Parts: sequence; structure tokens; C-alpha cells
Amino acid sequence: MLLIRGLVKRYGARTILDGLSLAVQAGSTVAIVGESGAGKSTLLNLIAGLEEPDEGRIELAGSELSALDDDARTLVRRRSIGFVFQAFHIVPHLTAFENTVLPLVLLGIDASERAARAQRMLQDVGLGDRADAMPRELSGGELQRVAIARALVHRPSLVLADEPTGNLDPDTAYSVLALLAANARAGDAATIVVTHSEAAARHADRVLRLAHGQLADGREAATARAR
Ligand SMILES: Nc1ncnc2c1ncn2[C@@H]1O[C@H](COP(=O)(O)OP(=O)(O)OP(=O)(O)O)[C@@H](O)[C@H]1O
Ligand SMILES: [Mg+2]
Repeated sequence: MLLIRGLVKRYGARTILDGLSLAVQAGSTVAIVGESGAGKSTLLNLIAGLEEPDEGRIELAGSELSALDDDARTLVRRRSIGFVFQAFHIVPHLTAFENTVLPLVLLGIDASERAARAQRMLQDVGLGDRADAMPRELSGGELQRVAIARALVHRPSLVLADEPTGNLDPDTAYSVLALLAANARAGDAATIVVTHSEAAARHADRVLRLAHGQLADGREAATARAR
């Protein structure tokens, strides 16, 4: 489970996160909504250890991330976190399969097991027949699904997805969010999805709105919009 307390992040004189707290249980999915510039990506980057908070604590499975040195934090990130970036970060000269299998290579999983797992993961996101395609041959939505396959393939205990449905049509967006929520339940992974999609409100266990550097219940606003 993920536990955040009193998180503060400032850029210069601007306070982006202002004492934010959040708990996400293993197996549950939280959707975070909020206006552009509210600090959603900043929050995910802090949780992933890609940026340092000015104040506050982030605990993953009982261990405090800011107490770890850089090497230990990199290990936690590799083993326990799956990240779908807002701008995919797909490696352009590797195929869909090679991109997906990458986290398992970094973890030293043996070749036949990692191939089977990566292929099954690509099937789960609907790209089983595009495994050998290069990124330039894939559509925006297909690339996004490769990014999701790569984020889930090592069965992380924490999944962070920054607008994973931004380039998808509503049907594909719906199935991607269903997949993330199902993965959370099946793999006991705490999952945080930043999204503007109405479908998120239906798949997530909780919807929270980030505004003024804090999180508040966002379910009402989301369901009101969906009506
Ligand atoms: N490295 C940085 N230096 C200075 N300001 C930054 C930096 N990174 C982000 N910001 C600012 O912090 C604020 C929050 O940015 P963030 O990317 O977290 O927003 P967001 O909620 O993800 O927005 P969007 O929905 O557009 O992706 C923005 O005003 C942004 O310009
Ligand atoms: Mg963002």
C-alpha cells in the first residue's frame, strides 16, 4: 500500500503541492482529476522518486522512499513501480515486443519466461499481432497500449499512469482503464490513474480532484459530468 503524508512541492516561489495526503490500498484504483497545471504529473513524479519533495513522507509497503539513497530508490522503482508516462517514452528503435520486455530484462528474468510474459501482456492490451512492429508503424493509441504493457509486465505493486487514455477513442480508453483496474485487483497493485476520461470514474474505486495543492473527493463532480 501507498501512504503519503504532508507532501509539499514548490517550484521557486510557486507552491504546487501544499501538504497533500493520500492512502491507496493494495488492489485498489484511485483516479485523479484536475485542471491542467494543477500538479498531477508532479505528484506522480514525486511518488516515482523522479523528483524530490520539499516536505512530507511517501511510504511504499512500509518503507519511506526519501530515506533511501539513489541506488536503493532505483531498485524500488524497477521492481515495484510501473509508470505510464504522459509522453509514452517508447524506445523508437525497439519493436513493440522489445519495448514491453525491457523491464523484465532489467530485472534479469530468464529469456523464455520473459518472452512468454511480454507476449501475453501484449495480447492483454490487444496488440498480440503487432509484437514485431516498430513504434513508427504504430498509431498513437497503439503506442499508448505498448506503454501500458511495459508498465504492467513486471507485476509492480504500484502502478502510476499519467493520462494513459489521452490519445485513445472512448471504447479503447474504456478497455484500457478496465485493464488497469483489473490488473490492480488481480495483482494486488495500488494504482493511480491521472485522467480526464469520464470512464475513469466508473472503473476507479475512488475519484479525487487535485486543486490548490490538495486532494478532495472528486466523485461528485465526475458523476455529475457523466450524467
Ligand atoms: N521543473 C519545473 N520547474 C518549474 N515549474 C514546473 C516544473 N514542472 C512543472 N512545473 C509547473 O508546475 C505546475 C504543475 O505541473 P504539472 O505538470 O504537475 O501539471 P498537470 O496537473 O500534470 O497538468 P496537465 O494536465 O497539463 O498535464 C505547472 O504550472 C508547471 O508549469
Ligand atoms: Mg500532466
